[in-house]
Amino acid sequence: MKIAIYPGSFDPVTNGHFDIIKRAAKLFDKLVVVVMVNKSKQASFSIDERVEMLRRVTEGIPKVEVDSYTGLLAEYARERHACTVVKGLRAVSDYEYEFQMALANRRLNPNLETIFLPARGEYQFLSSSAVKEIARYGGEISYMVPKIIEKDIAERLKIK
Ligand code: COA
Repeated sequence: MKIAIYPGSFDPVTNGHFDIIKRAAKLFDKLVVVVMVNKSKQASFSIDERVEMLRRVTEGIPKVEVDSYTGLLAEYARERHACTVVKGLRAVSDYEYEFQMALANRRLNPNLETIFLPARGEYQFLSSSAVKEIARYGGEISYMVPKIIEKDIAERLKIK
């Protein structure tokens, strides 16, 4: 069984992530979307909230499971018997950082390969930070996040 992991902060999940999830799920027997901690970022949503949003968004997509983990990605992959990490690449500027991460992860877990899926053009300038910034000021985020979580994000982040 070929298991892949799609890791990220998902703070919150965006349409760009959702697109990668749908495309990656077609390539493997199982895709585990895992909320992880990026130590360089201050999260706005708790891990449980992020998992819950991802579960709602991915409900009904076959072969997709949502989980969270606060340790190393390479270790999680070992525990789950996953052979592949899936990452989305938005632009060439993402590449250097992602390349380093892929090499570090493979050093930590030699059985782990990373594959990159190019983000769709309309999502190339999308990020979770942009969603949060716009939502804080009450701006339009409907084109940025899945409809099912749009209202919750807007209400949760809007500065009152
Ligand atoms: N479309 C639109 N936006 C996308 C996207 C896509 N397809 N893919 C990523 N993004 C956005 C994300 O929302 C994120 O936005 P933000 O910076 O505003 O939060 C940004 O691009 C960067 O995404 P990514 O590079 O995936 O970073 P991340 O913080 O979401 O995830 C972890 C990084 C959690 C996977 C990484 O820190 C990790 O593996 N942590 C665990 C500890 C570990 O193993 N460390 C590595 C040791 S080598």
